[in-house]
Amino acid sequence: MANSPLLYSNSFQYGVLIMHYTEAYNIDDLHRIARSRLPKVCYDFMAEGTEDNVSLRNNREVFERIRLQPRTLVGVSHRTQQVTVHGTTFNSPFGIAPTGAAGLYGFDADVALARAAAKAGVPFVLSTASFVPLERITQEVPDGTNWFQLYMSKELDGAEKLIVRARDAGFEALVVTTDIPVGAAREYNKRNGFEVPFKMRLGSMIDGALHPRWMCGVFLRTLLDSGVPRLQNVDSNVGGRIVSKSMADFRQKRDALNWADMAWVRSIWPRKLYIKGIMSAADAREAERIGADGVFVSNHGGRQLDGAVSPMEVLPEVVAAVGGRLVIMADSGFRRGTDIVKALALGATMVFVGRATLFGIAAGGEAGASRALDLLRGEVDRTMGQLGVNRVAEITRECLVLDEAMFTKM
Ligand SMILES: Cc1cc2nc3c(=O)[nH]c(=O)nc-3n(C[C@H](O)[C@H](O)[C@H](O)COP(=O)(O)O)c2cc1C
Repeated sequence: MANSPLLYSNSFQYGVLIMHYTEAYNIDDLHRIARSRLPKVCYDFMAEGTEDNVSLRNNREVFERIRLQPRTLVGVSHRTQQVTVHGTTFNSPFGIAPTGAAGLYGFDADVALARAAAKAGVPFVLSTASFVPLERITQEVPDGTNWFQLYMSKELDGAEKLIVRARDAGFEALVVTTDIPVGAAREYNKRNGFEVPFKMRLGSMIDGALHPRWMCGVFLRTLLDSGVPRLQNVDSNVGGRIVSKSMADFRQKRDALNWADMAWVRSIWPRKLYIKGIMSAADAREAERIGADGVFVSNHGGRQLDGAVSPMEVLPEVVAAVGGRLVIMADSGFRRGTDIVKALALGATMVFVGRATLFGIAAGGEAGASRALDLLRGEVDRTMGQLGVNRVAEITRECLVLDEAMFTKM
């Protein structure tokens, strides 16, 4: 149960009703609260994967196959989990991954996530598919490390407009997501009527009414504050409403993208560039060839190609191919400090979480997201202490006992 990627229970756990984010002692607790607070249509969109959820489950299961081998009596009273990436020092070796439509889970959730990340001293990646215009993030959270995630298609004009906006707004890095050449088969969205354009179903309305805290605190508050949610970054001229047909068009023509387009992005984006959705040594080398500064090893949290390997299984081959030259981020399935430490031991520079902080948002807004980051921070610290390391640089393969057969290439 504790490791179940989908928690269809209510927020009873261990005979205890967990109601408030301050009562959450791990990410799964936040998940339970989120589950109880959200209408099914929203919960499914956040927590589910795609098709048969094979990758969603595997993303969690791989962590159990990698074990930690501790050293003892080494003196771990000087522990620090700080990590420096391209000259910027972060308080923890993890950050917040881009998640579109985060405003479904909490009022003004994108700004809340950015604030929580800034307070924790970790990076925040804003999704192209956010409900807030990208400029608000850098204006309202200028003390944070804010990166912008780009969804682009072969319509390069639209991409260029967004890149220019992100540059002018002061985003420090661009993260281009490449693992959606075609849309995923999210059958639950169809069943729930959560499609583009959005179809309001009677069942969804009743479900919304049965979740009054969400209905008033998130949905109606958002409507009153800024009207029907818009994907404000998709096209600076359109700003299409999530119920409109133009949103469907936004997804077209991604299937024609290739590495030449990434080289074009590189030529017009002046700051750090990361390519997200890299799952092989060959593609990591391509990213290096076009001049990227790093990669996100990611299967999109099990939300795209069902059956795709976990980033953990391909990390060793990516590290062997470009480690030491490119920054290597990993995401998909991380819920515990031990998970994060295992990825660092395999050679990841940092780890990113998507759902963990969304569960926090749904459970308690910005404070809930901060709770998620605090829990992870505490767990990383405890893991480092029990493992016998003082610094992130000391977290190496020596800390792991590996079943080599589980990796694509060692
Ligand atoms: C609700 C939701 C929305 C997401 N939206 C985006 C997005 O807009 N852009 C993107 O690159 N990745 C998106 N992702 C994927 C995340 O960036 C990240 O790869 C994934 O969530 C990591 O897995 P985890 O949720 O198990 O931590 C989304 C994930 C979720 C759960």
